[in-house]
Amino acid sequence: MSEAIKRVVVTGGAGHIAYSLLFRIANGDMLGKDQPISLNILEIPQAMSVLEGVKMELQDSAFPLLKEVKIGSDPIEIFEGADYALMVGSKPRGPGMERSDLLADNGKIFVEQGKALDKVASKEVIVLVVGNPCNTNCLICMNNAPSIPRKNFHAMTLLDQNRASAQLAQKAEVDIEKVTNVVIWGNHSNTQVPDFYHALINGIEAPQVIDDEKWFLDSFLPTVQTRGSAIIKARGSSSAASAANAAICTMKSIVFPTEEGLWFSSAVSTDQNPYGIEKNLIFSFPCFSKGMGQYDIVPGIEWNDFLSEKIKLSEKELIEERNIVESLMAFSK
Ligand code: NAD
Ligand code: LMR
Repeated sequence: MSEAIKRVVVTGGAGHIAYSLLFRIANGDMLGKDQPISLNILEIPQAMSVLEGVKMELQDSAFPLLKEVKIGSDPIEIFEGADYALMVGSKPRGPGMERSDLLADNGKIFVEQGKALDKVASKEVIVLVVGNPCNTNCLICMNNAPSIPRKNFHAMTLLDQNRASAQLAQKAEVDIEKVTNVVIWGNHSNTQVPDFYHALINGIEAPQVIDDEKWFLDSFLPTVQTRGSAIIKARGSSSAASAANAAICTMKSIVFPTEEGLWFSSAVSTDQNPYGIEKNLIFSFPCFSKGMGQYDIVPGIEWNDFLSEKIKLSEKELIEERNIVESLMAFSK
């Protein structure tokens, strides 16, 4: 084994998502089958006993790539030297709640953890925020970690992209891998804009393959936008295995080069975006990776009036969320 060990931080290690995520990371699904890793797992003190059990199971899985498992409740200790950080630890919403209702409880977690990343993580750490509302939590985290490049912060919208791709594949009756180039624009909320106009099915624009505008507007869009609450209603708790899968796919998409002509959705800093979205937001765009975490927002995708109007609404919502958490970002001013 020639590769140097990479330190992967996962927060919320005793929770539902982590119970899928940790084992897949340890199996090499995220960083590849030749990359040895150390897992550094954070939890709150009350959940430490559960996390001890998860650690035992990780050991008992005998993953060849897993060289060390470190657990604890002090972010300064757990984030030390982190190369990758998957920020899952936070409250999920229950039935009848919007994700933004979590801001008061979850926002402050990302102040402390952003500061800890700033202090002790690698300066090249790639951060993926999963905990909701993930765009604005990521904004808080980024603004509390001024020594880490702002480009290294992502919030997860690939689950929405996967949901959209699955809906298109089912409707067109094709295998899922025939659906490419779905973009999620904006916020991971009901205002997200799953862009079917630029999605391809077998390389052909989706509206040419599925000649049914009513289905796109009345079924596809609301199904994708509200899939999170549909799952909460059905399961009694929020998506976990599909969220873990999307987190793995997001990191993988950032770390490994994207195939020419394709893209993946990730919510990233708007500081240098080619679409005129207000600065200092975390907004989902189509992204293209050159590998090793070096990615660009794909420019030049044209918005029709429908997309423009909907994308502006999602931007407005993110500005409103930012206004609510202004005081949590005072550190950066
Ligand atoms: P969960 O309640 O099962 O687990 C969350 C864990 O985080 C708990 O064990 C809790 O003790 C821990 N935690 C709370 N505060 C913490 C802190 N300060 N530091 C470390 N750990 C802390 O929830 P879950 O189902 O795993 O979901 C986690 C988060 O992910 C929720 O906010 C949920 O809404 C979000 N989520 C996002 C997406 C997405 O697409 N972006 C998808 C699914 C879920
Ligand atoms: C999801 O989209 O499944 C998650 O964001 C959980 C939620 O609250 O909907």
